[in-house]
Amino acid sequence: MTLSSSWRSPSNIALIKYWGKHGVQLPQNPSLSFTLEACHTAMKLSVIPEKGDQDLTFLYQGSPRPSFVPKIKVFLELMEEHMPWLRHASVEIDSSNTFPHGAGIASSASAMSALALCLTDIDDQINARQSTIDGAWWLRVSQYARLGSGSACRSVHPVMALWGQLTRVTKSSDEYAVPWKEEIAPFFHDYRDTILVVSAAEKSVSSTAGHALMRDLPYASTRYDEARANTWKLINALRSSDQLDEFIRICESEALQLHALMMMGRSPFMLIAPGTVSIIHEVWRYRKETNIPVCFTLDAGPNVHLLYPAQYADDVRRWVDEVLIRYCANGFFIEDRVGNGPERIL
Ligand code: PMV
Repeated sequence: MTLSSSWRSPSNIALIKYWGKHGVQLPQNPSLSFTLEACHTAMKLSVIPEKGDQDLTFLYQGSPRPSFVPKIKVFLELMEEHMPWLRHASVEIDSSNTFPHGAGIASSASAMSALALCLTDIDDQINARQSTIDGAWWLRVSQYARLGSGSACRSVHPVMALWGQLTRVTKSSDEYAVPWKEEIAPFFHDYRDTILVVSAAEKSVSSTAGHALMRDLPYASTRYDEARANTWKLINALRSSDQLDEFIRICESEALQLHALMMMGRSPFMLIAPGTVSIIHEVWRYRKETNIPVCFTLDAGPNVHLLYPAQYADDVRRWVDEVLIRYCANGFFIEDRVGNGPERIL
């Protein structure tokens, strides 16, 4: 008997960065992210539970992609503890992204969260559980997604997610992300993110290698304290729409710290490109000249996320078309926004 499940799951962009881990994708500091909408993975998982030997097929945009298989195999092996049927199952994954692979946009968060959703759904079918999709169900999915890729655990919640233990936030955990929507002003529910693709090349250093380099960094514990302090400051700034200066200061500082950490290690590396630096200067100039509260954040790569309130969407689009597009590889950018989290595909 073949069981199947299909889910669409978004990418997310961290405002407070997770950089440094221990154990099985346990974070050294809390992180806080916007869940995106346009950048997502649509996945269909088909499983024959009693096939005999484990067997995995992975299709990406309809064609086999053997290069993705090793990472998924590691994840499925970790998942055997939670879903023993995986040991003898034939698994077929049919996955596609709304954003081009190799556009330098992290796809592991959307892909691994989509896979965790499909697996949990199939596990429920195998165990004939009532499929009540309640708060506990989402935390379970978030925990599984974390085993695939740390940041993926934040993609399962609408609007914002907090991952990592924070004293005084009793629901917070290192094991999974918790929803962070009710805690913020509705003004942020509609925030915009224009992703400027400065380079579409594969990253020269993977995030796994980057996390590992934090182990030898003399400044690591200072960074983790700073990230914790910034998380609190950002949580407070997100409570109303009139603390945008503080919101901007923290977002940009976190992005710059992430890249500074890469440059400060014993084996330094640099993922920003000349275009990244030019855009950062353009953002500072534009904000000063127009008073439009647009700021930037960066992922582990050269591409720049412009974050701004929805009411400035037309102004920002004009500025991108007139000025910033020259820094984008092949003029490529994506207009994304804060989104409502994963959805089952029927
Ligand atoms: O989930 P990973 O292991 O790919 O690490 C992601 C790290 C950053 O994207 C740089 C920051 C973050 O919190 O998402």
